[in-house]
Amino acid sequence: MPRVLIADKLEPAGLELLRAAGIDAETRLGLKGADLAAALREFDAAIVRSQPKVTAEALENPGKLRAIARAGVGVDNIDVAAATRRGIVVMNTPGGNTVSAAEHTVALMFAVARKVAAADAVMKAGGWDRNKFVGSQLAGKTLAVVGLGRIGREVARRAVGLDMTVVALDPFVTAAKAAELGLRTVNSLDELLPLADFLTIHVPATAETKGLVGARELGLMKKTAVVLNVARGGIIDESALAAALKAGTIGGAGVDVFTAEPTTADQPLLTAPNVVLTPHLGASTVEAQENVAVEAAQLIADFLLKGQVANAV
Ligand code: MLT
Repeated sequence: MPRVLIADKLEPAGLELLRAAGIDAETRLGLKGADLAAALREFDAAIVRSQPKVTAEALENPGKLRAIARAGVGVDNIDVAAATRRGIVVMNTPGGNTVSAAEHTVALMFAVARKVAAADAVMKAGGWDRNKFVGSQLAGKTLAVVGLGRIGREVARRAVGLDMTVVALDPFVTAAKAAELGLRTVNSLDELLPLADFLTIHVPATAETKGLVGARELGLMKKTAVVLNVARGGIIDESALAAALKAGTIGGAGVDVFTAEPTTADQPLLTAPNVVLTPHLGASTVEAQENVAVEAAQLIADFLLKGQVANAV
């Protein structure tokens, strides 16, 4: 019977699918370093979310491991090049949490614009202050979207539905497609940033996207602009963003992802004003977690039982 290591919390529907297919699924949580390496080599395949760091060292002596499925989109916790060198296929589930991530982006946009978290905190501390929490409408404002992949498009679609003007940067989207989505595209970040009342980034974490929006780029934006990051920590430079918020040269931010997760006390955004922070919750819905668990389990079952590969990254 093929054996699959479940190295992160996975919704039961995924485990049930594997077991019904005659695959032994064993959950072991919190594995790191040498323990993770030792566990991986015992199994034919593994399913992970974002917790285990599947580094080149973890894959150095992979035993019978032949496939890793990421229940989610980002594979930045897996050294895909090292896996490929060892003949291990890495697959992801790009569709399962799209809607949840897009909805979380919109939730943060509303939360920042209407100062929901700050007003809630004041009320719970016994206060009642209506003047301090005057917000701004989203209707009529411009949302700038960097990256019109699955999540970026869903965010854009929702923003159009909220009567926002959407302008996007994505070299792969044609003018015809942009028109179909109800938005227009521009050719550079420098052209996009001054237009934004709200900026949202939906690109993967790569060497090219690290620090994509730093102090210089934030300096091109309106002082009232709100910056959103539900993609990956570090794509927007956290120190530069915190400094801009403290200086009042950026109006607010909604951030779900951080360079170091979990965050520590030295995370600069924790002490910045006008910020709503959430602990990487973009895909944390019942629906998304069930979707990605089932999709990841299906990928592994198809690979182990039929030799099929889908969604290889
Ligand atoms: C993803 O990449 O799928 C999301 O960020 C959610 C996650 O990391 O679990």
